[in-house]
Amino acid sequence: MTEPSLYDQVLDYENRANPWPLYEKLRSQPVWQEADGTFVVSTYREALALQHDPRVSSDPANLLPEFAAIRPPGEGDGTATGFIRTDPPRHDVLRRMAMRQFGPPHRPDFVDSFTPTLQTIVAKLIDKLADRQQADIVDDVAYPLPVAAICRMLGVPPEDEPTFSAWVEPIVNSLGNPTPEQLQERTHAIQAMANYMFELAQRRRAEPGDDMISGYVTDDGPDGRLEGADLFGTLVLLLIAGHETTVNLITNGWLTLQRHPEVLQRLRTEPAFVIRLVEELLRYEPPVHILPFRTPTNDIEIGGTTIRKGHPVAIMLASGNRDPHCIPHADRFDPDRVGNVHLSFASGVHYCFGAPLARLEAQVALVELAKRLENPHLVADPPPYRPSPVLRGPIHLPITYDRVSPR
Ligand code: HEM
Repeated sequence: MTEPSLYDQVLDYENRANPWPLYEKLRSQPVWQEADGTFVVSTYREALALQHDPRVSSDPANLLPEFAAIRPPGEGDGTATGFIRTDPPRHDVLRRMAMRQFGPPHRPDFVDSFTPTLQTIVAKLIDKLADRQQADIVDDVAYPLPVAAICRMLGVPPEDEPTFSAWVEPIVNSLGNPTPEQLQERTHAIQAMANYMFELAQRRRAEPGDDMISGYVTDDGPDGRLEGADLFGTLVLLLIAGHETTVNLITNGWLTLQRHPEVLQRLRTEPAFVIRLVEELLRYEPPVHILPFRTPTNDIEIGGTTIRKGHPVAIMLASGNRDPHCIPHADRFDPDRVGNVHLSFASGVHYCFGAPLARLEAQVALVELAKRLENPHLVADPPPYRPSPVLRGPIHLPITYDRVSPR
């Protein structure tokens, strides 16, 4: 039997808790070719260059037919993925129309204006921990926050949020290697959500508010109006792309703070420090480890190798973040680091749309948790991880504590 390749070892669940030594070995050569034809790119410079190369496509239609059956880990069945799996110029038009209701220049203060709302959501989640001395950072705080946040932004009425969250769960669960039952549940959830969104869009058209859906259905920007399947694809993308990613940032972040008690203590006394802290957490323990399925539309020379047209390319973001040739003492967690760089939100045309929201959610959650949990301890280190090598983070993060301080 042949030895598993380094990339196979990265994908192997056995190595989920500590993939870092494998990434170090991968970086001894910027580009590897796997036996199945996949190219694996692990060094910072090359990972960055490919994300800015217009010859690298995000559209699976550019894969050669012999690779069509390779399912990218963490990508589900490929339906309802919105503009994330499209290329310019179509991608850019859809992204601009989606961004118009979310951020600058059209709505420069939209995300920031949600700070008090996010603080209230997190405070209420932490209030619920007061009558006990143990919690799961994932189930109790990190998991409910992103869906509540995006619902408020989209304009889903608070009374519909529980129903809405119940649809998000099967969709998120179907990422990875879904069973037939999971795929069926996903199909039902998408159908139910589509019906609901259609009805909500009609209501908002008749009576607009200042939420994103109202903006999408009433506002004609320079690119026209986001409608029909494009609107629904975008809404599902916003829900999915911001879910497990943000959960992982908060959970990986809390795990790292527990492993560095002096940093946790500093956050309690100096909450403004959270801005640099979250940036270093993004670099050091990124929620997305791999962009698993880019495709060159031409042969491309990079890192001493030719990556072939139509072959799958896996870009190892997390490995790039620890590349010592570009990042000094890259394996050291250093929230005071000057000139931080990382690939955690990707780079280039697909740079994460929700990055300002993700940062804010993590900042609010980590400050509140640090402030209110007295004497917190991890129950297990390492904790159990989710199966995905792409969206990497603990599936549960049980902790104990003495008390929850009042708000
Ligand atoms: C810590 C949390 C997050 C991380 C680490 C993260 C990371 C990423 C990465 C790596 C990509 C590139 C994916 C690719 O090209 O295949 C991406 C794209 C995207 N993200 Fe995020 N994300 C986070 C949170 C969010 C949130 C909260 C939202 C929604 C509000 C969001 C919306 C999107 C969208 C729409 C795209 C597609 C952008 C495009 O194709 O132009 N993300 N994100």
